[in-house]
Amino acid sequence: MSEQTLVLGIESSCDETSCAVVADGRRVLSNVVASQIDLHARFGGVVPEIASRAHIEAVNTVFGEALAEASVAPADIAAVAVTCQPGLIGSLLVGLMAAKTVAWVWDVPLIGVNHVYAHAYAPALNAEPIEYPAAALICSGGHTALYRCQSPMDMELLGTTIDDAAGEAFDKVASILRLGYPGGPAIDKAARGGNPEAVRFPRSLLAGDCLDFSFSGIKTAVLYHVNGVPGSRGAKPDGEAGEPGEPSPRHSRRRHGPARQRLASQPNAGRGIENFTPAELADVAASFQAAVVDVLKIKLRRAAGAVGARTLLLGGGVAANSVLRAALEKLADQLGCQLRMPEPRFCMDNAAMIAGLGFHYLKAGKVDDLTLSAQATVRR
Ligand code: KG4
Ligand code: ZN
Repeated sequence: MSEQTLVLGIESSCDETSCAVVADGRRVLSNVVASQIDLHARFGGVVPEIASRAHIEAVNTVFGEALAEASVAPADIAAVAVTCQPGLIGSLLVGLMAAKTVAWVWDVPLIGVNHVYAHAYAPALNAEPIEYPAAALICSGGHTALYRCQSPMDMELLGTTIDDAAGEAFDKVASILRLGYPGGPAIDKAARGGNPEAVRFPRSLLAGDCLDFSFSGIKTAVLYHVNGVPGSRGAKPDGEAGEPGEPSPRHSRRRHGPARQRLASQPNAGRGIENFTPAELADVAASFQAAVVDVLKIKLRRAAGAVGARTLLLGGGVAANSVLRAALEKLADQLGCQLRMPEPRFCMDNAAMIAGLGFHYLKAGKVDDLTLSAQATVRR
């Protein structure tokens, strides 16, 4: 029996089946991920029924590989941590049943973990402990949220999206631009070399001290920019569908300059994506990405102020975005905070973050029993 405390983690909340072994909450001995991206790509998003079936098919193999890669025996494992909320209910149940089975057979504690909290813990994996208090920005395909964190387990929700998640917006806009699925990495790549100021897409919910997010307006703005505004005669190439409360370019004091610039830089706007030149496409991708990153940065700055944060934490699939990472580096410098971002492989859904956070619950004696249930959504 080793001196270190080993926790087995199991993650299956969306479209990745993952098992991991983590020592003392931070040292990742194995992190095996079976992605279902290929199964869902042709649908342009995750199909819940397909996802749960694929988890069932993958979970035994992934579990075996995680133990083998870590070179540990069942007797070395101190506890089993599993994502129990939030997520697709059928998918969550597969991981939860696997975890309960293992906990029962091995006679070790079972620990239910909140997937979003685990994303905020991911920067600690294979790295130094996080210094608290921290402001955490978690943005993925399913979640966009800000938290006040006093410890890995003490998380207070400060704001969340009122419609689409940031990653969802990336995925939908990539679909409009025909860049494929998942959209985040595709837009990140397509935007390289594009002009982020070519099209001024709306930034939502910036008024006052609001910490909530809204990304559906920008998605619609991109759609209108590419295809034109439905029902209007001729294209409206300014891409400013806007949202209630958003200044419209027609009423903006900066109307003439930027509008002319847009027309000049995007002569094919409103004519359908097949008519966009590669340079125009790169400009739209870069402009969309810049708008999303702007909003995320502004809100994280506000949250950091509210929290009195020593540390900024970034997590979730969108945390892999190159422009966001660079923008938050600058923000942290300005605020004099540490910025902690996970390694790219720990940005995506993974079981190492579940096992890592599970270790802290184990130490605190916060363990569950076999009646633990899965919750698709978490109330604010
Ligand atoms: O955390 P994650 O793997 O799964 C969820 O919990 O949703 O996040 C997946 C999301 C997808 O929407 C994907 O498009 C987005 O993260 N994503 C990115 C990038 N890489 C992945 N978004 C922007 N830029 C990226 N480089
Ligand atoms: Zn996630």
